[in-house]
Amino acid sequence: MSTSLRYQSGFGNEFASEAVAGTLPQGRNSPQKVTRGLYAELLSGTAFTAPRAENLRTWLYRRRPSVMCGGYERIAQPFLKTGAKDGVASPPDPMRWHPLPMPDEPQDFVEGLRTVAVNGDADAQTGIAVHLYLANRPMHHKAFVNADGEMLVVPQQGRLTLTTELGALAVAPGEIALLPRGMAFSVSIDGPSRGYVCENYGAHFRLPELGPIGSNGLANPRDFLAPTAAFDAADAPWQIVRKYGGALWAAQAASSPFNVVAWHGNLVPFKYDTANFMTIGSISFDHPDPSIFTVLTSPSDTPGTANCDFVIFPPRWLVAEDTFRPPWYHRNVMSEFMGLVHGQYDAKPEGFKPGGMSLHNSMVPHGPDGEAFDKASSTELAPHKLDDTLAFMFESRWRFHPTEFALGCGALDTTYADCWATLKDNFR
Ligand code: FE2
Repeated sequence: MSTSLRYQSGFGNEFASEAVAGTLPQGRNSPQKVTRGLYAELLSGTAFTAPRAENLRTWLYRRRPSVMCGGYERIAQPFLKTGAKDGVASPPDPMRWHPLPMPDEPQDFVEGLRTVAVNGDADAQTGIAVHLYLANRPMHHKAFVNADGEMLVVPQQGRLTLTTELGALAVAPGEIALLPRGMAFSVSIDGPSRGYVCENYGAHFRLPELGPIGSNGLANPRDFLAPTAAFDAADAPWQIVRKYGGALWAAQAASSPFNVVAWHGNLVPFKYDTANFMTIGSISFDHPDPSIFTVLTSPSDTPGTANCDFVIFPPRWLVAEDTFRPPWYHRNVMSEFMGLVHGQYDAKPEGFKPGGMSLHNSMVPHGPDGEAFDKASSTELAPHKLDDTLAFMFESRWRFHPTEFALGCGALDTTYADCWATLKDNFR
């Protein structure tokens, strides 16, 4: 496979790519004989009859169809959990975790998945899971196919190379990748790698509507990059690991699943550099709701009430006058799971570390810590650049259940509530 990666641009586009000139059928999808002896295979990301604006599917032209792998057997991955049923009860307190250290034992991306919070139900195609990944070796001749959901990968440390059926994506911290449900991928690493994954059982992530913002802004479609066709020419066996209804199943395939020579369609993996996010904020007073920072949204069947919003808090200028500039104190019917890629988060300058996490579930009070409140209440309100920072939130209408691992892994910050202890009664 080529080491210099080329991409195609545009969220939602109909793409076409061929690694060998002339192999993509023209004028039809399934000719009686595909050029050069390839097999045609359709991957449907939505029901056939989904509305045109939501319909996602891609045609693959490959050396062997993916049906040529069977006899799956269950394999263990005790840290990978699925749906609210796999979570445990937790008190209605704000929760926070320190970064997890890299493991000593060798583990690849799939072996290194640690589910920290779950909601919804993969069988009902609703809800999400939040996983960490801790990987220190590549998935050598192993491919992962997740039938339970698409995977939004947020690297925090280490650059990943994601080989997919449609080609490869290189993704570094500060960038994100979106991997479609059911599409095989394999992860290579440059060194010890850590990050976050939102496994989305629900409706596909898409760009949010812009309403009065207009036709530009936030995450612009052209900054989403899809791969170009590339195929594995070697004839070596591969292990295929499928996540299916919460369990992992493995089988040996005689050859690589990355054997797609040409493809066309709109169901594609994407990468996106958050540095391209056009951040919009207040230029008068108060600050908008954090939904103004939404990169991608997975809607539920209730308008405006997301199965999951992926929201970032990127570098930006704060200029609002007579305004308490950090996030306000807050109780939210939605549930908020946060991570930090690098830098500081303005509401929690000290205790929230890169690689760490926090969970403020539905109706759990939260807000700036005592230090952040004191500083923001008394500082001179000159224009101020929040720089070198990238926090993010997976916000869901479904309450998160932490996993046993999350509560017992030793990273839970048992002193989190102390950060509000210095808030005084200032009433005069
Ligand atoms: Fe909040």
